[in-house]
Amino acid sequence: MCIHNNIIRNLIKWYVAMLLRNLTLATMEADKPYGLIEQGAVVIDGEAILWAGAETELPEAFRGYPGTDLEGRLVTPAFLDCHTHIVHGGNRAGEFEMLLEGVTYEEVARAGGGIVSTVKATREAGKAELLRSALPRVDALIAEGVSVIEMKSGYGLDRDTELAMLHTAKAIEASRPVRVRTSFLGAHAIPTEYKDRPEAYLDEVCLPALEAAHEEGLVDAVDGFCEGIAFSPDQIERLFEKARALGIRVKIHAEQLSNLGGAQLAARFDALSADHLEYASEADAQALAAANVVAVLLPGAFYNLRETQLPPLEAFRSHGVPLALATDCNPGSSPLTSLLLVMNMACTLFRMTPEEALAGVTRNAARALGLDDTGVIRAGLRADLAVWDVSHPAELAYRIGFNPLHARYFGGRS
Ligand code: NIG
Ligand code: FE
Repeated sequence: MCIHNNIIRNLIKWYVAMLLRNLTLATMEADKPYGLIEQGAVVIDGEAILWAGAETELPEAFRGYPGTDLEGRLVTPAFLDCHTHIVHGGNRAGEFEMLLEGVTYEEVARAGGGIVSTVKATREAGKAELLRSALPRVDALIAEGVSVIEMKSGYGLDRDTELAMLHTAKAIEASRPVRVRTSFLGAHAIPTEYKDRPEAYLDEVCLPALEAAHEEGLVDAVDGFCEGIAFSPDQIERLFEKARALGIRVKIHAEQLSNLGGAQLAARFDALSADHLEYASEADAQALAAANVVAVLLPGAFYNLRETQLPPLEAFRSHGVPLALATDCNPGSSPLTSLLLVMNMACTLFRMTPEEALAGVTRNAARALGLDDTGVIRAGLRADLAVWDVSHPAELAYRIGFNPLHARYFGGRS
């Protein structure tokens, strides 16, 4: 009986298992640059990686598995976009024109444009339209080898629309081969009906909406915008206390336009990540490193707002802060749907290395989302892989506006 079962199990394995060979592997393990293995091989078993390493060391047992010759192509972990506002109504091309004429992002926001204008469009859109408009943006990311996308609420700012945004994120996951992580961003802006009454907004809308969304299983993380045009550190702290009471990890939009202490707050609350951080200080870097908080840098927003204050890369490096990168895909500060371009911008604008950029959209992006089953190529993790028509990983950050993706494996399926 036992022998019988083993035969059946082996037959099934032969059927679902797969050997990828003749490839260069950038495992993104931290032990050596890119975790690079020349002449590598990967064995996939169902949804998971069964083995990865140099082809010369491939165990005998896997040699007969049905195989694909990748003709020397590069295999990396599939990418993760760990900070997006990809679900939203409308667009802000008009505001883009204003920004180009010299009006600042803060002036637009204070004049009732900015986030609040997308709130109006999002409230009017309805779930079907939110889904319809988000899918092409999602598809653009998938076409560049993305397997996980974080999606925030934050353009509803009323209970029903915040929930509708999170439901839309779930609907995207059901419609496309991609994993979605949701963040509740009810503290993104103060809606017009609560103008100058942020505390009342928190008490009457934001915190109850978080509770309702959590009850429906819609919240993987809680996020807040800590800024002069949004919420103060004390207000974000109240939000984080609520998240803690509900057992949900937090993240923060911090030190994007000024330094208010959001990064330090994130460190005190064991945040998954602190995002933007152009105005972060050396002490902030120290606090983030000590609390293991990932710094998520968003060069798309930096570029589009023509920001000149650079995030403190040297301080992040010297204190050992893990660096992730994301599109920040949103209709205002970063209407961007390319992680390859983000990698290039991180190198040219922030002087990150191509290796840091690749780690930023793989290993460290996974950390920023609290995911430990993806982001590097290692036996036991999900078989989320990207196969590229390039010979060296530095080519991924080097090209501008060119997509060399050859294939993407999502949970073992191409
Ligand atoms: O991450 N900084 C705040 N939130 C977004 C911008 C959203 C918007 O402008 O609509 C960001 O850049
Ligand atoms: Fe953002």
